[in-house]
Amino acid sequence: METAADPEASGSVHDTAERKIIQLEIRWATVVFFCISLIMVAVILAGVVLHINPPSNIEFVDPKTLHLSGEFTETNLGTRVAPTGQITSRIVTTQFAFVPNCVVLPANRRVTLRFASPDVIHGILVTGTNVNTMVVPGYVSQVHTVFRTTGDLLMPCHEYCGLGHSQMTATVRVVPPEQFRPGPDGRATCADR
Ligand code: CUA
Repeated sequence: METAADPEASGSVHDTAERKIIQLEIRWATVVFFCISLIMVAVILAGVVLHINPPSNIEFVDPKTLHLSGEFTETNLGTRVAPTGQITSRIVTTQFAFVPNCVVLPANRRVTLRFASPDVIHGILVTGTNVNTMVVPGYVSQVHTVFRTTGDLLMPCHEYCGLGHSQMTATVRVVPPEQFRPGPDGRATCADR
């Protein structure tokens, strides 16, 4: 606000007006401070308590050769338990399907989901969980989570990716840990059960 004093305009009328303006500014500053504090609390609560964080993984993959070699070839997709015990599901998001369109994972275990797209930007979420990420061509999207409930969870594409976007869904089948039985090669598919 203006602070330069006008020597001609002294007097109680001017003082009262100025005091009113200052009060109004303080009031609005308080409202803004309260709003920002509320947003900060919501962000911290979501991150620390609900474990909702932006994926921090930055990893490149060539979208043109995604299906030809490397991690995202067709035979390598789906759920696999590594010799180290790490459980990873690899999924390709493409216009307009998930490959595979069902993955099986155990509840109450730390699991990793890895996504890649050969065509356009997709977005995925697993309903009722903290899994939610964009899948951008050229990058691997990676999410770590622990599923607390069992059952078939819907995993839709939530980023408009073309005319078939609304048909683009998949299933994450979360089973009790004792029912999660990968084969000798470490692979587990929805067809197993
Ligand atoms: Cu893929 Cu919308």
